[in-house]
Amino acid sequence: MCGIVGYVGPRQASDVLLGGLARLEYRGYDSAGVAVVSNGELDVTRRVGKLAALSAAVAETPVLGSTGIGHTRWATHGRPTEANAHPHVDCTGRIAVVHNGIIENYMQLREELAQNGHVLRSETDTETVAHLVESYYQGDLATAVRKTIKRLDGAYALSVVHLDEPNLIVAARKESPLIIGIGDGENIVASDIPAVLEYTREVLALSDGQVATVTASGVSVTDMEGNPVTPEMLHIDWDLAAAEKGGFEDFMLKEIHEQPKAIRETLLGRMDAKGQIQLSELQMTPEQVASIDRVFILACGTSFHAGLVAKTLIETWARIPVEVQTSSEFRYSDPIVDDETLVVAITQSGETADTLAGVREARLRGAKVIAITNVVGSRVTRESDGVIYTHAGPEIGVAATKTFTAQIAALNVLALKLAQAKGVMGTERVTALFEELSRIPETVEAILADLSAIDECAAEYTDVCSSLFLGRGIGVPIAMEGALKLKEISYIHAEAYPAGEMKHGPIALITPQVPVVVVATQGHTYEKVVSNIQEVRARGAEVIVVATHGDDEIGRHAEHVLYVPATAELLSAIPATIPLQVLSYRIAKLRGCNVDQPRNLAKSVTVE
Ligand code: M6R
Repeated sequence: MCGIVGYVGPRQASDVLLGGLARLEYRGYDSAGVAVVSNGELDVTRRVGKLAALSAAVAETPVLGSTGIGHTRWATHGRPTEANAHPHVDCTGRIAVVHNGIIENYMQLREELAQNGHVLRSETDTETVAHLVESYYQGDLATAVRKTIKRLDGAYALSVVHLDEPNLIVAARKESPLIIGIGDGENIVASDIPAVLEYTREVLALSDGQVATVTASGVSVTDMEGNPVTPEMLHIDWDLAAAEKGGFEDFMLKEIHEQPKAIRETLLGRMDAKGQIQLSELQMTPEQVASIDRVFILACGTSFHAGLVAKTLIETWARIPVEVQTSSEFRYSDPIVDDETLVVAITQSGETADTLAGVREARLRGAKVIAITNVVGSRVTRESDGVIYTHAGPEIGVAATKTFTAQIAALNVLALKLAQAKGVMGTERVTALFEELSRIPETVEAILADLSAIDECAAEYTDVCSSLFLGRGIGVPIAMEGALKLKEISYIHAEAYPAGEMKHGPIALITPQVPVVVVATQGHTYEKVVSNIQEVRARGAEVIVVATHGDDEIGRHAEHVLYVPATAELLSAIPATIPLQVLSYRIAKLRGCNVDQPRNLAKSVTVE
């Protein structure tokens, strides 16, 4: 997804912009550019491809100046070409704009601008913003930007510079994240926190409809009418090292190894001395919690799989029916939710456009919405009635790993809370399960301590084209997540099915060339899973199983066994996930793939 950095202060702006954009690379992008106000000129450099190409161009023809804006673009309107790369300029070449989001009425705006004599040079929606600012500019950039954004339908985070006001950036947002790092004699605009951490931990979070005038000495914020507003300030605890690879080859591997900490911290303080689950974030009285009789979960991708795990947990423990829907379907499905429904929106980034739209839809229908997210101050936190944070720290790799297992940890707590509040489960049982849950980080550590079996297995399957992932019960979403991990980072086709469903079609795919990965940890359907394994083996498939330590028999039915320590059946989701993450990671690395930034993918999908 696109990234924005803007700088005004005493340093060379291009250095700060390129450094900041590098910190946002994890968002995924296909072109990049910077515009620097330099000796009475607006110097714009753009390149297709990775930042290295832009850095080389800037190094070849240095741009000196201390105010500038930069951008990494993930194409939405128009191909990833240099002409479509940001920053975009107006007809005079004196105004430059970078933008994240989508201007939905851009076709009408283009026509109007063209009729008024403007010449647009790209296929993008963003360029209309530069020309609108040009048409409204009468000596005050902030006023021109305010007039411009009133004309825009859609989502935007914008940063704008003008040669006539060389020492300022005007920034505005609606439904796309934008923050301003407050430095000492310098300020940095950015779409995401890692871009500013090198300079400051004090961050101003712009809200929708706010416009900021940013100079080296200060920031003033107004609403769209120009009335001064007091913006929200945040202190960021993350240090820069937390956002770097910490000695691992890739962010993804680092993040896989950070899971014990992420789960531990997510569970911290969740049970009091009396055995009561603490979840004040629900913002509900005990009576209100006890009266919940329907739960609806909204999420996308990996977060959706966490939602499916939660369905099993909540239905089994709290006996409350749970529906799980992908957010992109929910928003257009005329969903049956009302003020009796608890809606849980799961989104690690807190910025996923479809999930946010679902949250709005659910609230319009009277439902109470609880968000589960990893990002403090993210959009979903402002739009929900309550927020349960996962404490996984920043996840840089595009493939979700630690945020997934942290989500499951948080959802375990939610399920136990509901079970306790409804009186379905007594304190003794809740306490026992919570204690067992609290040991899951150690279980994960034990798995990560010896990855040799996974390495051996991965080496044998680097050349396959297709694979099947099977499970039953809580193993189904884990198989789905395993398949998603493999396909997104290694580009091997992977499909997941409930193991019992295989006979109804997918079994036709089985050949010796299509390995079958089976979640076969101990549980009430274990024997059934073993039968399914035999069915695929009878058709020549090679089988890789995730099984429970001590299950020596399973080795007779599989080419490879990836063992995980024993735990209660419904707590096995996290341990069973870990070998599948590592297996995908190793296979992808052996295939030479960029695991942190897989092709065509973005870390947070802030457009529909
Ligand atoms: O930020 P979110 O949790 O809302 O993101 C949803 C999906 O885009 C995300 O989980 C995606 O599927 C993963 N990055 C895949 O690893």
